Amino acid sequence: MVSSNTSGTKMKSNLSRIVICGTDTDIGKTVISSLLVQGLNAIYWKPIQSGFKNGGDTNTVCKLLNLPKERYLPELYKFKAAVSPHWAAELEKKVIEPKSIRLPMSNQPLIIEMAGGVMVPLTRDYLQIDLLKEWMLPVILVAKSGLGTLNHSLLTIEALNKRKIPILGIIFNGELHKDNPKTIEQFGEIPIIAQLPRLRNLSAKSLAEQWLNQNLSIRLSNIIRDHVD
Ligand SMILES: Nc1ncnc2c1ncn2[C@@H]1O[C@H](COP(=O)(O)OP(=O)(O)O)[C@@H](O)[C@H]1O
Ligand SMILES: [Mg+2]
Repeated sequence: MVSSNTSGTKMKSNLSRIVICGTDTDIGKTVISSLLVQGLNAIYWKPIQSGFKNGGDTNTVCKLLNLPKERYLPELYKFKAAVSPHWAAELEKKVIEPKSIRLPMSNQPLIIEMAGGVMVPLTRDYLQIDLLKEWMLPVILVAKSGLGTLNHSLLTIEALNKRKIPILGIIFNGELHKDNPKTIEQFGEIPIIAQLPRLRNLSAKSLAEQWLNQNLSIRLSNIIRDHVD
C-alpha cells in the first residue's frame, strides 16, 4: 500500500509511520512534528505526555495547525507533572505499561512525537529507547543547531545505531550554524533533512513557507527512497 498526500509526497506503508525523537526536551519536537504533520498531511500522535498543562503537545499542534479531530489521536498516557514519564506516572500512583502501547494502523502518514530524549525512562526498568526498539519504526531526530548539539546528537545517534533502530535523518532547529550540520553528517553518517530557523512568527503559514522553501516534499521523498533501497 502506498499513501500519498496533497503535496505529492509518496510514502511506502512501512514508512508511513515516523517517530520524532529529540536529543533533549524543549528542543523543538512539537514544532518539527507540526511542520511534518502539515507538510505530509499526516495524523499526529503523542502517546506519552508528561507536563499536561494547557492540553499538552497535542493541543499545541492542533491550535497551531487548526487541525480537525480526525487528524490527531488521543494520548495513551498523560500526567500532570513536567518530569520524566516514569516519575510523572509514579506521582499519580500509576505505571506505564509499555506492552499496552500499541501502534495505530492508519491509511494516512502518522507522526509520533516521543517524550524528552531517547533514554528517558518509561518505568523503573524500561527506557523509551526500549519501546523504539520494539517498534523499529524510522526515526527523525530533532536537535538544536547551536553549541552543545555535537555531543548530544552523536550520543543519540550512537544509542539508536547500537539497537539497530533506523534513522531517516536529522532536523536542526534554531539559528543556522556554519559547521554543526556538516560535522554531524560526517560523524553520525545520517542525512540532514532540514534546518528550521527560529521563527519570529510561529504559525501554520510560516511552517508551510519553510516546507516549500526547503523543498521538503522532494527532500523527504528522496531520503525515504534511499532508506528503502
Ligand atoms: N523554530 C522555532 N521557532 C520559534 N519557536 C520555536 C521554534 N522551535 C521551538 N520553538 C519554541 O520553543 C519551545 C520548545 O519547543 P517544542 O517544540 O515545544 O519542544 P519539545 O517538543 O522538544 O519539548 C516552544 O515554546 C516552541 O514554540
Ligand atoms: Mg513536545
